[in-house]
Amino acid sequence: MSNRTFTMIKPDAVANGHIGGILNMINAAGFRIVSMKMTQLSTAKAGEFYAVHKERPFYGELVEFMSSGPIVAAILEKENAVEDFRKLIGATNPANAEEGTIRKKYAESIGRNAVHGSDSNENAAIEGDFFFSGLEKF
Ligand code: TYD
Ligand code: MG
Repeated sequence: MSNRTFTMIKPDAVANGHIGGILNMINAAGFRIVSMKMTQLSTAKAGEFYAVHKERPFYGELVEFMSSGPIVAAILEKENAVEDFRKLIGATNPANAEEGTIRKKYAESIGRNAVHGSDSNENAAIEGDFFFSGLEKF
């Protein structure tokens, strides 16, 4: 599974009409779409997805934001997918994101930062399975 990662286009980017722009950047960077859906997280589901951040001061706001509107969830495939996708999305805080990254172009703030990207192969598999069944992976 080391050639797969998981992403979400977050509620800010969906609401601002950036699904197409972000998918274009993902395609141009050479990722293949394995799974994709538009859906909305309940607060309970968002809390579960971000459980690793439960003790952080931004957890409540993060859960509220991530359940505030529809998102696009996807599993992506490419050699070295996790690391290469983290490079493509850029720093968590868009103020620190490099030119040419998705967050540089589309993120509004550290909280409303347009996209999620898995931070390890293990989490990529867990996060992909959170949203997609085996029948939804192509
Ligand atoms: P984190 O996993 O540290 O960042 P990344 O998305 O780059 O892997 O944090 C998860 C999300 O939590 C992050 O995308 C936005 C939010 N967040 C804040 O709102 N404030 C913060 O100070 C941090 C670190 C994260
Ligand atoms: Mg993270």
